[in-house]
Amino acid sequence: MSRPLLEIRDLLMQFQGLTALDRVTMTLDGGSITSLMGPNGAGKTTLFNCVTGMYRPTGGQVEFDGRDITALPAHQVARQGIARTFQNLALFGGLSVIDNLLVGTYLQGSSGLLQGAFLTPAARREKREGLEAAYTVLDYLGLADSAHLLPGELPYGRQKQIEFGRALMQKAKLVLLDEPMAGMSSAEKTAMSELIQRVRAEMGVSFLLVEHDVPVIMDISDKIVVLDFGKKIAQGTPSQVQNDPAVIAAYLGA
Ligand SMILES: Nc1ncnc2c1ncn2[C@@H]1O[C@H](COP(=O)(O)OP(=O)(O)O)[C@@H](O)[C@H]1O
Ligand SMILES: [Mg+2]
Repeated sequence: MSRPLLEIRDLLMQFQGLTALDRVTMTLDGGSITSLMGPNGAGKTTLFNCVTGMYRPTGGQVEFDGRDITALPAHQVARQGIARTFQNLALFGGLSVIDNLLVGTYLQGSSGLLQGAFLTPAARREKREGLEAAYTVLDYLGLADSAHLLPGELPYGRQKQIEFGRALMQKAKLVLLDEPMAGMSSAEKTAMSELIQRVRAEMGVSFLLVEHDVPVIMDISDKIVVLDFGKKIAQGTPSQVQNDPAVIAAYLGA
């Protein structure tokens, strides 16, 4: 058996007296779509924040690709190959679609802002490569014609795809999606599901997904982990989880 891509052990996150994550252990296999389910307040976003280095966990370990990333700050976690989207749309409304994709590369660029301002050869090359990558991603999303529009000029589902595209720009091995389909029409949800599956199949990207739409989760997940009040209460394939008495109780109780 090969090692999981992401391994979370006994993850503990406490905020003054509140235990948001209570010794959660889970794994995610490379090339898989794994979903986190649980009622509001269960700790799903907190787990994302711990994995991506936005929170420093109170206890436990996070290992990615064989490396302990528990104590790494967010920008270093990103460099290891983990990207995320946010629960609320996090696009820059005043920047064009293409510039929204490029924001990530400027942040990652090694030549730095100062050199960028003076366009040294290294910065110029980085800028050109960034643009090429951004157009490749836009093509992939079917958004090339919208490169110079503002996000607000596009329908909501398309805006969410730009955010998704920004994660792809980071060449991540693992993408964490926090409620990517919230507020979408059913056609937009279908398009997003297909996009996630296509990126997994064609680019080998793995996904950790939080999504409230249960039929969507059941349809696209290889594995589901269920949290309730910060504790893992179930895990397994969609059909195993769907029939788990603890899961049914947590959802009926919520
Ligand atoms: N920065 C924080 N400070 C204090 N409490 C927090 C913080 N972040 C999350 N929590 C609390 O942790 C619990 C889990 O929240 P969250 O992870 O956002 O849940 P979910 O995403 O599953 O809805 C909630 O009770 C929430 O209020
Ligand atoms: Mg949340």
